[in-house]
Amino acid sequence: MLKKQKLSLIHPSEITPENIYRERREFIKNLTVGISSTALLTISNKSISAINTLPNFNQSKKNNNEKISSLKDITSYNNYYEFGTSKSDPSKYANKLKTDPWSISIEGELEKSITLSIDNLIKIAPLEERIYRLRCVEGWSMVIPWIGIPLNALLKKVLPNNNAKFVEFVSLKRPSEMIGQKDDILDWPYTEGLRIDEAMHPLAILAVGLYGKVLPNQNGAPVRLVVPWKYGFKSIKAITKINLVEKMPITTWMKANPKEYGFYANVNPEVDHPRWSQASERRVGESLLAPRLKTRMFNDYAEEVGSMYQNIDLKKYF
Ligand code: MTE
Repeated sequence: MLKKQKLSLIHPSEITPENIYRERREFIKNLTVGISSTALLTISNKSISAINTLPNFNQSKKNNNEKISSLKDITSYNNYYEFGTSKSDPSKYANKLKTDPWSISIEGELEKSITLSIDNLIKIAPLEERIYRLRCVEGWSMVIPWIGIPLNALLKKVLPNNNAKFVEFVSLKRPSEMIGQKDDILDWPYTEGLRIDEAMHPLAILAVGLYGKVLPNQNGAPVRLVVPWKYGFKSIKAITKINLVEKMPITTWMKANPKEYGFYANVNPEVDHPRWSQASERRVGESLLAPRLKTRMFNDYAEEVGSMYQNIDLKKYF
């Protein structure tokens, strides 16, 4: 976007071979832990810890019939500027990040601010697998089997008030463990934002895992956002704060280059980035000689999300 392989939590011997993973589509029972909103509001931050293993999760019922990208590609070709600007930097350096203990605070325009551990976060709703395309503004894409909870399950619990028009997300700032933060290539911490209706959309998730395992550090452990109809940079990693706000937040990429990165960042093959055509994309892992794929409006989720943008000029609000 601007011009050391070690998986921290997944040991190679633990990884389900991809063919078995893909074949083993049997239904895994619901995680039945549910808590009431009052219970949630009184959760203390006594047990702030990251998770080392994932509880059971509902496997994806909907597969878009696309080939899922390999675990190797998903975990070795990354954008995570806190660890450097090259695609291989995150897999080399992100293992240094300590994700336990971890807490995520939810504050701003809501009934009561709360701080949650990852353990408590994943009790808010049953964990689900979601197989989503991730389309990067640079023109590449992958298909990733995420595991997470709908973002709206969390937002509904904290009772946003009428001033909550936008949601701001803030990543961790910890230069001692995030070597890329020693350079000021971006304004740290990395921040992102969504309009409240976008954040409430059922497709938006908070991911804590992928490929059936806890999220690797380079993919944003212990918790990241995934908004599949928007360019990948909206899907902020290592979230520490979710802030409900009245005014549209100015995000990291808007600050870095407002002409190139807008707030909405919806995947749109008709609106090019000044440096990259958005009409087509290269699927990471496919031969460089393979024909490029046609990029679809809203990353092919137009049916689900199109109505949110009916009345806005997508060329202006890119
Ligand atoms: N989140 C943080 N905190 N820092 C980053 O540099 N990069 C974004 C997004 N989330 C980024 C981030 C970009 S540009 C993309 S394309 C996706 O993460 C890449 O996600 P992946 O590495 O899991 O494929």
